[in-house]
Amino acid sequence: MRDLSPRRQTLDPIETASRDEIEALQLTRLKWSLAHAHAHVPHYQAAFAAAGVHPDDLTSLDDLRRFPFTQKADLRANFPFGMFAVPREQVVRLHASSGTTGKPTVVGYTAKDLDTWAGIMARSMRACGTRPGDIVHLAYGYGLFTGGLGFHYGAEKLGCTVVPVSGGMTPRQVSLIEDFGATTIGSTPSYMLSILDEYRAQGRDPRKSPLQVGIFGGEPWTNAMRTEIEQAFDMHALDCYGLSEVIGPGVAIECVETKDGQHLWEDHFLAEIIDPESGAVLPDGQVGELVLTSLTKEALPIIRYRTRDLTRLLPGTARSMRRIEKLRGRSDDMFILRGVNVFPSQIEEQLLAHPGLSPHFQIELTREGRLDSMTVWVETAEATSDEIRAAQARGLQKRVKQMLGVSITARVGQPGDVPRSQGKAVRIVDNRPKA
Ligand code: DLL
Repeated sequence: MRDLSPRRQTLDPIETASRDEIEALQLTRLKWSLAHAHAHVPHYQAAFAAAGVHPDDLTSLDDLRRFPFTQKADLRANFPFGMFAVPREQVVRLHASSGTTGKPTVVGYTAKDLDTWAGIMARSMRACGTRPGDIVHLAYGYGLFTGGLGFHYGAEKLGCTVVPVSGGMTPRQVSLIEDFGATTIGSTPSYMLSILDEYRAQGRDPRKSPLQVGIFGGEPWTNAMRTEIEQAFDMHALDCYGLSEVIGPGVAIECVETKDGQHLWEDHFLAEIIDPESGAVLPDGQVGELVLTSLTKEALPIIRYRTRDLTRLLPGTARSMRRIEKLRGRSDDMFILRGVNVFPSQIEEQLLAHPGLSPHFQIELTREGRLDSMTVWVETAEATSDEIRAAQARGLQKRVKQMLGVSITARVGQPGDVPRSQGKAVRIVDNRPKA
C-alpha cells in the first residue's frame, strides 16, 4: 500500500489547532446553536422550559449537560418538518431514514448546510488519503439515504472526478472500477465484500485493481474485516461514521496516517459520552452512548442527540480533535442471550479468525420454550463437502462458546448461501415470538 498521508500544509488550520482554540470555537458556536434551536423550534422551547434551562444559562461547555436530550422519538413526534429551525422554503434538500419501524425520520438542509457538509466530507476524504484529481467510485446508495449524496458533494468539493454508481448491479461495479481507473471507493463494508466476491467470480485479481483507498461506513465492521479488505485489494480501508439526524456521513473519520479510531470533527459537532441507563456524562476513556450536538447546522439544529451508538472518547493523534473508538455496535443491535450481552461484531471477529469461512453472516434468534437460541448462518469461502462444512460449524460453535460462554448453533453453507444486501447488511433476523 502506498503512503498516502496528506501533507500538513493541505489541512484546514482547525485540524491541527490547540485544544484551547477548538474549545473556544465550540463555545461560541454552541451558544449560537442553542439560541437558534430555542428561538425557532417549539419542541426545544418546551423541552428547555421543562428542564428549567435557557440558552443564556450556558457559559461553559460543561453547562450543556443541564440541557435535555433529544431522541429519535422527538423527531418522529414532529414528523415531518416540525424540528426545522428555518422556513421550509429555505430547506433545499431532504433526506430520510428508511423507517422500517414506523414513520421515517426526516432531516433537512439549507444551501449553507449542504456547503458545510460538503466541506466536512472533502476534509474527511482527504484525511483518508484521497486527493484532488482522484477518480472516486461511489457505491453507497443514492436517494433518501445520506451515504451517496453526502460523499458525492464532498468528493466534488475536494476536486475529484465522481462516478455516481450507487449500490447494485455488482458485475457492472467491477467493470466500471477497472475501466475508469477508480482510485477511491466508498461503500458499506458489507457491500465491498460483495464487490470482492464479484472480482473473484470474474477471475480478476483484486490486488491488481486501481483502487488505493476505500472509505467504509454506515454499519459496524471490525478491524479483522479491515485487514481482510486491505489484503484482498492492496488498498487502505478507512472507517467513516455518521448519522442522518446529525448530518450524514462525515461526523467522524479515520486518518490514513494512523487508522486508530475516528477523529470527530469537533468544530461542527460536540460529543459527550453518557451512561445509557442513568444519562450521566462519563469521563473521556469510558465506554457509553455517544451523544452529539450540532454546532453549525441551520435547518435542523440537533441538541444532545442520543445516537444509541456505543463507543468511547480518546485523545487526538494525527489531528488535535478527539477520536471515537471503532464502534462496538448500537445499543439496540445488542441482544441478550441467556444473560450474556452479544453484539453482531463479536461474531464477525470469530468468523474472520476461522480459516475457510467467508465474512458474510446472519444471526437468527429463535425461542425454544423459554430460552432464546442463536443460530449463526455463514458460508465457506470456496465450495466444499458436507463433512468439511460440518467440521467448520463445530469449530465455530466452539470458538463462540469460548468467547461468550453460551452455546450457539452454527450452520455453514456453500458460497452465496447467506443473503446479501446492496447497502447496510441485515445481521439479525429475530424470529422470536413477539411479547
Ligand atoms: O449511515 C450515514 C453514513 C453513510 C455514515 C455512509 C457513513 C457512511 P443513517 O442511515 O442515519 O446514516 O445510520 C446511522 O448507522 O447511528 C450507526 O449506528 C451506524 N453507523 C454509521 N456509520 C457507522 C460506522 C448513515 N462507521 C447509524 N461504524 C449510526 C458503525 C455506523 N456504525
